[in-house]
Amino acid sequence: MISRETIEKINDAAYVEDVVGEFVHLKKRGANLLGLCPFHDEKTPSFIVSPSKGIYKCFGCGKSGDAIKFVMEHEHYSYPQALKFLAEKYSIPIEEKETTPEEKKELDKKESLFIVLKYAAEFFKDRMFNSDEGRAIGLSYFKERGFLEETLQTFDLGYSPDKWDDLYQDAISKGYNEEYLIQAGLVKKKEDGKIFDFFRGRVMFPIHNVSGKPVAFGGRVLKKTDKSPKYINTAETDVYHKSKLVYGIFQAKQDIRKLDETYLVEGYTDVISLHQAGIKNVVASSGTSLTPDQVKLIKRFSPNITLLYDGDKAGIKAAIRGVDILLEQDTNVRVIQLPEGEDPDSYLQNIGSTAFKAYLEEHTQDFVLFKLAILLEEGKNDPLRKAAIIKDIALSISKIKDSIKRAVYVKECSQLLEIDEKLLISETNKLRRSDFKQKTDQKNSSYQPIDELEQVTDPLIDHQQREIVQNYETQEREIIRILLQYGGQELSEGKTVTGLVLEILEDLELSHSVYSYIQKAYQEAFNNGSELDMLNAFKSHQEQEIRDACLDILAPGHEISHNWMKMHQVIVTDYDADLNRITKEVAMRYKSKRLVDMLKMLDENLKAEKDYEKQKVMLKFRQKFEEAKNDLHEKLGTDVLY
Ligand code: UTP
Ligand code: MN
Repeated sequence: MISRETIEKINDAAYVEDVVGEFVHLKKRGANLLGLCPFHDEKTPSFIVSPSKGIYKCFGCGKSGDAIKFVMEHEHYSYPQALKFLAEKYSIPIEEKETTPEEKKELDKKESLFIVLKYAAEFFKDRMFNSDEGRAIGLSYFKERGFLEETLQTFDLGYSPDKWDDLYQDAISKGYNEEYLIQAGLVKKKEDGKIFDFFRGRVMFPIHNVSGKPVAFGGRVLKKTDKSPKYINTAETDVYHKSKLVYGIFQAKQDIRKLDETYLVEGYTDVISLHQAGIKNVVASSGTSLTPDQVKLIKRFSPNITLLYDGDKAGIKAAIRGVDILLEQDTNVRVIQLPEGEDPDSYLQNIGSTAFKAYLEEHTQDFVLFKLAILLEEGKNDPLRKAAIIKDIALSISKIKDSIKRAVYVKECSQLLEIDEKLLISETNKLRRSDFKQKTDQKNSSYQPIDELEQVTDPLIDHQQREIVQNYETQEREIIRILLQYGGQELSEGKTVTGLVLEILEDLELSHSVYSYIQKAYQEAFNNGSELDMLNAFKSHQEQEIRDACLDILAPGHEISHNWMKMHQVIVTDYDADLNRITKEVAMRYKSKRLVDMLKMLDENLKAEKDYEKQKVMLKFRQKFEEAKNDLHEKLGTDVLY
């Protein structure tokens, strides 16, 4: 653990413009610096560094933070890694806080497992490239499948010789500990005490964790006649939790972030083939159904996930089964169906990378609509089946967290199903209510410890924090969009849209600095009874930040690519039709979220506060927030779900 004093020293030394400037070419722009954003592709710069505030912010992709955060994001470092990087840059000696003996033992053990696993990956590589058997069998197998040398290196592919204990003997002769070899799943001990290698006569696929360390292996048989399973894989170990990792994430993460999209495939070789063809934002679930933790991991890099599943019935079924988990995690799911009998690797090798990429472009479908189409194909004219289909689709829709997205799906699906929208709404609401109840019941009854490994390798807390800020960002953006586009418009009750928004928000200030500036400007104009159509004024505002933010907000379909664009147009027509309702909803929903979060924060502070007088003041605040929240929820009423 790095000591608090050291962290403070690093914070003091690391000027944001200095740290960012090492990676991004920055030009002076007034008090700020401007450059091309390193986190997404852009031609005109929208990445701003503010030395006075000590932060950077991209008005294109929304990434923002301070010097440490920048290093974490840019280099994909954990918090401690970023601190070490900066400490080195500014020659600050690192003082480590004492860890308890138990912590130390646990860390040492994991560290030792990492070491033997790294050794094993090297061993398998060495055997493939430098032994006759490896070259004749392993290397030639990969060559036959069209994998290039560079690809073999990128994925650390190797070969395990067809001998009982080649790895074991080599490891022991080099001084590696038998116990760790066993615990890492590399060798097994028989009852008679004999030790043998787990992987024998297979081509080897190391599975890397997010920071690129091999933590497990998959081994594929070569002999087609063999009765043993096609792949065998390392079982769970202290450093490998299958349900929390996806294959290829280390090699893919940079491109996922840049392209803001992940292709999800089933197999190791699918990942490798696509990567070689230049489609590097690809990971595999490794043949089992997706888990929530795997989705969370992918979502750290982008919320847009495209399933690329086999064209047969089983593949489609697998896709449909896995998807509710994706929807639940608030991801945007699309799907690409491959021709019957093909997997991504085979199809790519068949038609070549250009045609394959074109195929992806042309066949991307929104998931919920895809699912509905499949279901309808099976039983459109059968009234009994239709009831089941409605339930099934309602279940998927009910998993979606974003209310606007839900509303769009309800509209589109009820049209396709040729049923009244209300029917689907009530079905979906029912499911959401019972789901919500179940979750709260579960939460109260079981305590879930945070995985230690994640704490070591990953700034989990910081990540959650980031999510909260990003969540506000989307809603605040929506509020500002409403003000900019419709601020001056009169509503039926004689109010303007601006009046309605301000009335709901009351003294709640938007958290994002640019949005809060715009909010205040509207408040001022409103108080003075002056013009409320301020869009043009902001578009030509003297501050670049304000101009850029407005353009960005109003840029059509900017938010989420592809299909979202289509949906977005649906929303725009909705706004015109029912501006009053949408405005109220957006503002109230936002306020409700802020209040709930504030209450949570207050409760935490209250718990920590020892001073009775201070507690009393805090309790007063709490009561005020609680009342405001209840009031709001009453107004939103049962509609709270829509
Ligand atoms: P596939 O059977 O589709 O294999 O299993 P594949 O990836 O296309 O491999 P090739 O092209 O035949 O070499 C998909 C994934 O399921 C897991 C593996 O992760 C595999 O990549 N799997 C499959 C196993 O773990 N064990 C098995 O016996 C089979
Ligand atoms: Mn395959």
